[in-house]
Amino acid sequence: SSSSGGTTGLLGFTPVNKSLADVFTVPVGYTASVIYALGDPLSAGTAAFKNDGTDSDFDNRAGDCHDGMEYFGLSGSGLPDQSSTDRALLAMNHEYVIPQFLHANGATSGTRPAAEVDKEVAAHGVSVVEIKKAAGKFATLQSSSFNRRVTGISEIEIAGPAAAHALLKTKFSTSGVKTRGTLNNCGTGKTPWGTLLTGEENWSGYFKRASGDDALRDAKSVVSLNRYGRKQNSSSRYGWETGGAADQYARWNISQTGASTDGTDDYRNELNGQGYITEIDPYSKSAAVRKRSALGRFNHEAAAISKPVAGKPLAVYMGDDAQNEYVYKFVSTAVWDAADANPLDRIATGDKYLNAGKLYVAKFAADGTGSWHELSMSNSAVAGYATYAFADLGDIVINARLAADAAGATKMDRPEWCGVNPANGEIYFTMTNSSSRAEATVDAANPRAYTDTKGSGTQKGNVHGHIIRIAETGNEAAATSFAWDVYVFGAEATSPAASVNLSGLTDANDFSSPDGLAFTASTGICWIQTDDGAYTDVTNCMMLAGVPGTVGDGGNVSVTSGATTVTTKMGKQPGAKLKRFLVGPSEQEITGICESPDGKVLFVNVQHPGDGTSVANLADPTKYTSQWPSNAGYGAGKRPRSATVMITKNDGGLIGS
Ligand code: FEO
Ligand code: CA
Ligand code: CA
Ligand code: CA
Repeated sequence: SSSSGGTTGLLGFTPVNKSLADVFTVPVGYTASVIYALGDPLSAGTAAFKNDGTDSDFDNRAGDCHDGMEYFGLSGSGLPDQSSTDRALLAMNHEYVIPQFLHANGATSGTRPAAEVDKEVAAHGVSVVEIKKAAGKFATLQSSSFNRRVTGISEIEIAGPAAAHALLKTKFSTSGVKTRGTLNNCGTGKTPWGTLLTGEENWSGYFKRASGDDALRDAKSVVSLNRYGRKQNSSSRYGWETGGAADQYARWNISQTGASTDGTDDYRNELNGQGYITEIDPYSKSAAVRKRSALGRFNHEAAAISKPVAGKPLAVYMGDDAQNEYVYKFVSTAVWDAADANPLDRIATGDKYLNAGKLYVAKFAADGTGSWHELSMSNSAVAGYATYAFADLGDIVINARLAADAAGATKMDRPEWCGVNPANGEIYFTMTNSSSRAEATVDAANPRAYTDTKGSGTQKGNVHGHIIRIAETGNEAAATSFAWDVYVFGAEATSPAASVNLSGLTDANDFSSPDGLAFTASTGICWIQTDDGAYTDVTNCMMLAGVPGTVGDGGNVSVTSGATTVTTKMGKQPGAKLKRFLVGPSEQEITGICESPDGKVLFVNVQHPGDGTSVANLADPTKYTSQWPSNAGYGAGKRPRSATVMITKNDGGLIGS
C-alpha cells in the first residue's frame, strides 16, 4: 500500500453536526452510498433479499452486524494486487445477529427451532465480497467466484502453541487440532502478506454452562471458565444448544460428559476453541482457516501490525475488550522478509510469522513509561502463579488472561481497537469506557471516574472513554519498554473542563466511547468511530478524523476524580486537528474502516441500526427505531440492516482532505 505521508491539506471539510436523525450524514462535498447490506446475495443462484424474515441460505448471503473490514486489491486478471484501486475484495466481520429481524415474527423463545439456529449461526462469521469500480464508484459483484462465507460452524484449524493441546480435545477433534466456527468477530487486521485477521470477541456467552458443572471437570478448568465469564449455571446468548440432539447443536452446551476422562467424547473443552485471532486468506476458498493461538485467547478486537522492517520481527498489537482487562502484543520469532509481501501460499506465510513468538502484556507506569511482560514459562511470575498452575505455553496462551493477571498487568477501561500511525509507528488503543472505574481505582492510564447524566439517568465511571497511544523504545517492534500518553479524552463539549473535558473538545469534535480506530495509509488520518451509550441522548454514533501529533506533546495534566487526583501525560489539545466527519443513522454504531489505496474511496460499516425495535412492533415499520438503509433507497423491506457505506468526494479528492 502507498503512503503519501504529508498531512498538509487535510481536514479541510466542515465538521458534521451532532444529530439524532435517521440519516447517514457526511460533510458537504462528499457522497455516501450503501453498497452491501445484511442478506445481500453472494452467489448467482441466491434469491434477492426480501428483508421480511423469511430469507434463508445465509451461507450465500452477507451476514449480520457488519464490523471490522479490510480491503484486498485484485489485479485485472484477478490476482492479489495490494495497489489496485478499481477491483478488490472486501473481507468483513459479522459480529452477531439481531434475532427479531432475522425471523418473520422474531425469534422463538425457549426451545429454538433448528432452522432458526441454523440461520443465526450462518449469519455470524466473516464474508468476502468482490467489488469493482466504474465511473469512480464501486459496486459488489453477486456472481464473483471469490465471494464466500466463513460462519459459526465452519471447520477451522488450531495453529500455534495450543494446537493438539489436551485443553482443545473434543468429540469433534479428538486430537485437539481443529474446531468449528469463528464467533462474535469484531475488529480486524490485515497482514503484510495479504490475509485477514479477525478477532473473536464476546464468544464466551454463546455457550451454556449448566448448574453443577464444576463437578464435571478438574479444578483448573473451573478457574479458567470462571475467569472467562462462564461460571456454572450460565445460560447461552441465543439458546442454540436447544436446536436439537444433533452434534452441531449439542456443542453449544459444554456441560455434557461422555465416557472418556479426556474430553474426547464430549464438549467440555469446546469453549477453548474460541477466543482467538483467526487468519483467513480472502483470495482462496481452499486455503485452511487457522486460529493463531500464539496471539492469546481473550475478547479480541483488532490486530494491528507494526510496519514491516526487513530483518526485524513483526509486532501484533491487540486489546481485550472487557472492563479491567489488558493490552497485549505478540512479537514474531521470524524476521520480516520483503519477499513475503506477495507469497504463493499466504496461510503458510501466516504460519511463519504468527505461530512462533512471544506474547506480552502491558503495564502502564504513572510517569508516562510502560513495560511489556512476557507470558511464558520463562516468566517466574507466570510459571509460579498460585491461582493457576500453568502446564506449558499452550496452557498459557489458552488462558492468557490468567497469565496476564500473574504478570501484574494494568487493568484498563475496556481496550477496543488499536491502530499504528504510519507517520511514526506509534500505536493507538481506544479505551471505550468503563462503568467499574471508581475514584479509588483511578490510575495514570485510566485517570477519570465521574458521573454523567444521560436523559433522566446517570452513568458513573469513565463514561466517555479515552485513547491511549504508545511509542515503543527505539521504535522497535520487539521493545520491552515504551512511552505513553492519552491522545484524547472523550467528553461532551459541555463536560467540566477540569475533570472530564480535559482535551478541550468543542461542538466540532466532541464524542463519547471511542471503539473503532484505524489510520488510513493514503493520508495518515486517524479515524475514530464511536459506540456509545452515554451521548446517544444527544447524537447518533459517529466517526471523527484526527491528525495527531506525537506521544508526550501535551505535557502533564492533573485529573481530579472526587477526592482523588492523579497526574497523567496528555496529548496536545486537538483543536482543529480533530473534526467530526460523519454521523450515522439511529441506534447504531459506526465500525470497520478501509480505503482504496489512492485514498479516494473510504468504506465504513453501520452496525445494528434500530436494534431496539421490539418484536411487538415488527408489523408496523413506522414504529421501527430506524428504517435505514431502506430510507436511503437501499433494498427491499423496511427492516433496518447493518450495511457497508462507500464514501467518495465529489471533486474526486482524498477522503478527509
Ligand atoms: Fe465488538 Fe468491543 O466491540
Ligand atoms: Ca451524556
Ligand atoms: Ca464495536
Ligand atoms: Ca464497543
